[in-house]
Amino acid sequence: MRKIAVSLTKGGVGKTTTAVNLAAGLALAGFRVLLIDTDTQGQAGFMLGLQPEGGLAELVTGALEPEEAIVEARQGLWLLAGGVGLAGVKKMIASNELEGEQTLTKALATLDEKYDYVILDTSPGWDTMTINVLFYADEVLVPVSLEILTIKGLAEFNKRLDAIKRHKAISLTYVLPTFMDRRVRKSAEILEQLQSYYPGRLCPPIRYNVRLSEAAGYGEPIFEFAPNSPGAEDYKILTERIMNEE
Ligand SMILES: Nc1ncnc2c1ncn2[C@@H]1O[C@H](COP(=O)(O)OP(=O)(O)OP(=O)(O)O)[C@@H](O)[C@H]1O
Ligand SMILES: [Mg+2]
Repeated sequence: MRKIAVSLTKGGVGKTTTAVNLAAGLALAGFRVLLIDTDTQGQAGFMLGLQPEGGLAELVTGALEPEEAIVEARQGLWLLAGGVGLAGVKKMIASNELEGEQTLTKALATLDEKYDYVILDTSPGWDTMTINVLFYADEVLVPVSLEILTIKGLAEFNKRLDAIKRHKAISLTYVLPTFMDRRVRKSAEILEQLQSYYPGRLCPPIRYNVRLSEAAGYGEPIFEFAPNSPGAEDYKILTERIMNEE
């Protein structure tokens, strides 16, 4: 089972869009995929057209069993939803009522080997939940919107990840450029920089495509909403890249 966190401290770079569409793409390719939303915004469920009553918060606090907290979203795709309840979980972790940075790992321990992939969407920022996600995951995929500020954000995130690496194995395996716009010269320059800093880990970019945000509003992965769009094409390429590296 591969556990991939989609993460970056900076907001609005396409984390949730990537987590949802990658998870949907892997499920369409025939894998068993669990998408875990660790964000209080709860948008991953929204992007799948679902608003389950319970989710990760209830699982962590023991209010629900895994089979009650996890809902089937599509064929081969399951969702453990996020939402405001996670604010309480973070407070409990901070006040040592739970298992510190191992809280998520312990709560998810019984899931092992039920799925081929666990994809985790994370909140912007860096808090106890982010640390928990990075303690649980083995790999990190960082979406990077093609702006200078995001490149800085990536360098900072990488430093913080190094601190986690002193405790456990985790690697930044994928750097995914998002909001690529070939008409903007800056986009191409930043892409070149990324290529020199992260050779071998840089994925083909996700283009700016309005269909991706429309699909989100409609509660459908891009493969359902607009299967022939550039967004679907780009996320299919990403899915294949990740599948083929097993
Ligand atoms: N490639 C794209 N082209 C056009 N719009 C996009 C693209 N990727 C994401 N979006 C839109 O940009 C917005 C931000 O994307 P998303 O919510 O995935 O970012 P995020 O990193 O999860 O944000 P947050 O940090 O708040 O969790 C959303 O409205 C989404 O629909
Ligand atoms: Mg998000």
